[in-house]
Amino acid sequence: MKIIMLGAPGAGKGTQAKMIAEQYKIPHVSTGDIFRANIKNGTELGKEAKKYMDEGKLVPDELTVRILLDRVAQSDCKDGYVLDGFPRTIPQAEVLDAELKKLGDQVDVAINVDVPDENIVGRMSGRRACLKCGATYHIQALPPKQEGICDHCGSELVLRDDDKPETVKKRLEVYHQQTQPLIEYYSGKKILQTVDGTQDAKDVFAAIERIL
Ligand code: AP5
Ligand code: MG
Ligand code: ZN
Repeated sequence: MKIIMLGAPGAGKGTQAKMIAEQYKIPHVSTGDIFRANIKNGTELGKEAKKYMDEGKLVPDELTVRILLDRVAQSDCKDGYVLDGFPRTIPQAEVLDAELKKLGDQVDVAINVDVPDENIVGRMSGRRACLKCGATYHIQALPPKQEGICDHCGSELVLRDDDKPETVKKRLEVYHQQTQPLIEYYSGKKILQTVDGTQDAKDVFAAIERIL
């Protein structure tokens, strides 16, 4: 099964994608996590991506598409995956469709996690992220068992560099301009499903399970 997660920054794409990946035993592929891991490790890719990410802008399509296609070509992705944060522009979606078509394949479902902008800034300032395994927490809504430590891998949790309120505002703007059109794109392909992302994370997941 090939699943795409759509939604504004902070809508809970990563939170839900992790739960889907665990439940359905498919890899969780997040372009944001791949970039952050590269930044942490000081790679050339990380240096390039950081320039855009710190300003709340999108990393250029060319670079992002190459990274994503490399990742989904790995053997653990052969029976499906859940994409979180990709595609984020119409050209990215078109490349993904074209590549899958070559393999006689296609995206099965695009799940739009719907959360209004008003809810987003509060979520971001309370978010804590694990840069090692990609898990995310919220100091109130979804706290880790031990403060500051990842439940999954024991690493230290951090506040993401792009979660400052000013950068979040920019990311929301970029989302509305460049990513929101994908809702119509997948709706036109009759594979769009929308869930109310303002509910508790476990209720959002229950809604997703009903769809899948
Ligand atoms: P990326 O890492 O994808 O960031 P994003 O889309 O801005 O989304 P977030 O990860 O911030 O939010 P999320 O929806 O995953 O929410 P989460 O589950 O963490 O991308 C970062 C940057 O990388 C981009 O700005 C861009 O520069 C670059 N990039 C990445 N992909 C790219 C691409 N394809 N093309 C170009 N550039 C790209 O939840 C948020 C918080 O809310 C957490 O604290 C969580 O615990 C909490 N929460 C979750 N669900 C709930 C709930 N139901 N109720 C209450 N709290 C909740
Ligand atoms: Mg995320
Ligand atoms: Zn972790």
